[in-house]
Amino acid sequence: MQGIFKGLRQRMAVLRATSRSGALAIAACLAMAGAALGASSLLGPDSVRAESPSVAAGQTLRGHMGVASCAGSTCHGRSIADGAVVRQDELLRWQEESSPTGAHSRAWRVVQEPRGQAILRRLGLDAAGAQRDCAGCHATPGAARVADGVDCEGCHGSSGNWLSTHYTVGASHGRNVAQGMTDLVNPQVKAQVCLDCHFSGDARGQFIAHRIMAAGHPRISFELDLFTTLQSHHDEDADYAQRKGGKTNAMRMWAVGQAEAVKRSLELFSQPTRAVDGIFPEFTFYDCHSCHRRIYDGEAGANVTAVPNPGRPVDLGTPPYNDENMIMLLAAAKVVAPDAAATFDARAKAFHRAMLAGRAETVAAAQALRQSADALSSRFAASSFTREQTFAIMDSIASDAIGDRFTDYEGAVQSVMAVDTLLGGMVNQGMVSTASATTLRVQINQAYAAVRDPNGFQPIAFRRALGGAVRSIRSLR
Ligand code: HEC
Ligand code: HEC
Ligand code: HEC
Ligand code: HEC
Repeated sequence: MQGIFKGLRQRMAVLRATSRSGALAIAACLAMAGAALGASSLLGPDSVRAESPSVAAGQTLRGHMGVASCAGSTCHGRSIADGAVVRQDELLRWQEESSPTGAHSRAWRVVQEPRGQAILRRLGLDAAGAQRDCAGCHATPGAARVADGVDCEGCHGSSGNWLSTHYTVGASHGRNVAQGMTDLVNPQVKAQVCLDCHFSGDARGQFIAHRIMAAGHPRISFELDLFTTLQSHHDEDADYAQRKGGKTNAMRMWAVGQAEAVKRSLELFSQPTRAVDGIFPEFTFYDCHSCHRRIYDGEAGANVTAVPNPGRPVDLGTPPYNDENMIMLLAAAKVVAPDAAATFDARAKAFHRAMLAGRAETVAAAQALRQSADALSSRFAASSFTREQTFAIMDSIASDAIGDRFTDYEGAVQSVMAVDTLLGGMVNQGMVSTASATTLRVQINQAYAAVRDPNGFQPIAFRRALGGAVRSIRSLR
């Protein structure tokens, strides 16, 4: 298991390095995490309970009841995980700010802290502006108490219709869902919930424009399986498997996550108010480090660093749409839905090419590509992802056809995380032993090393490192 946890930490490190600029930011962030730990130990379940009157008073139209209604010591507010069915210490884990399981409870507080305040200052936003532009993701949209950040109902759905019955005799996951609980077991549903904030969504204040990035917001980076694991506050024991129709299949979670991310990006990009900012395209949809890489024009003349990409038939100098999830989706489609892969590939190329023609052409191409992604998402959701298929997907990611597309940083990062996720998923399903997975750590670490520095990304060296990792994984086949 050690190797797997190391992998998680490493994926976190890549996400942190890429989403926060530089070592200083990381050091500051660790210091903040330390401070947060001190603060969170003051906030016991009781302090949440003490605030319950204001929550009750603030019940919204949508039946949002607030954290306090989940926090009872006989409910989810226990201090130890000794619940007969679920752990029942979920509140404590949601509040545990020293770990990513606690990230959502502090989501609104980070807006008040120095980095959040600096972003607001640069954007010229006052408190009302922060509510408008930040609360859609840093709190539960529509909740009465913004200070609770992203609360239980932010993911599990407003509980007005099921709160009093979901633990009674005769309750089942199916009945809860029928009464309005969000079906987070369904990978498509879950991906859509997370993407609202971990990419952008349709609700007010759920769009992370390039202006917000340029004011110092971390780049958003997401992978459904990894992020689920990091924020998990439940145990997948025998009882869970029985209630939820089996344990999580990490490979399926990963593949559906890629398809849903492609869909979401294209959906938002197709909205005229989202895709354009003044006279410019909205840069948030494009690959950050393709614009932000340095230009060398030294004594030996210009040194062009861009590498041709057969998956993106656009002219040099055109900002490349961020296709990190498209590359992964194609790799998975080639194996799990081979009949649909060629269409997806052709439509992805047509989408990139349409950028040279105009906005109307590009939106039409986006629509066609989104349909393909949607069909693939459903195919994946109904697939079991066998051992053979999972090995084949890893091969496909590193194969020449796909490898040629790793010209830019974002796709490269997704591919390393994918290989790690897929290998971890096979270990969880008992398809590969923990011992043999651990022996591959060295090669996977080399692939991580090749994406450590977003500002010094070297596509050719990266492909070599990824190829090495996949070759040694193949030896387990
Ligand atoms: C589309 C959703 C979205 C919007 C809108 C948004 N954020 Fe964020 N923000 C996130 C996510 C997701 C993260 C975590 C990124 C990660 O670690 O993967 C984050 C991280 C941050 C962080 C860093 C937190 C830390 O722990 O270091 C700060 C500060 C921040 N946001 C402030 C703001 C402010 C201020 C606004 C409004 C101007 C805003 N955000 C708008 C989604 C959003
Ligand atoms: C960021 C989203 C998110 C937030 C916030 C969140 N959860 Fe969860 N929770 C999940 C996901 C995803 C699962 C796993 C779902 C599954 O597989 O059934 C889960 C699982 C659970 C489970 C176990 C379900 C089971 O059937 O075993 C309980 C209980 C739970 N959450 C309670 C809470 C409580 C109480 C809070 C607030 C203190 C909370 N959650 C906050 C996303 C969230
Ligand atoms: C309503 C918005 C919202 C929803 C829904 C949401 N998140 Fe988040 N999430 C955030 C914000 C904002 C942060 C950053 C908080 C911070 O860093 O302080 C965050 C942070 C995280 C982190 C910690 C990342 C890090 O770098 O430490 C993980 C893991 C995570 N979310 C997973 C998920 C998963 C999985 C889902 C879906 C089941 C989900 N989130 C749904 C807003 C949301
Ligand atoms: C199409 C090109 C392009 C893309 C793609 C792009 N940016 Fe920018 N970015 C710019 C320009 C132009 C500026 C303004 C530079 C200036 O004012 O000097 C800028 C400014 C910034 C700044 C402020 C830098 C500074 O020194 O003040 C940050 C941070 C930033 N972008 C982050 C991002 C992130 C994160 C992404 C990916 C989501 C991204 N950018 C994608 C062109 C781009």
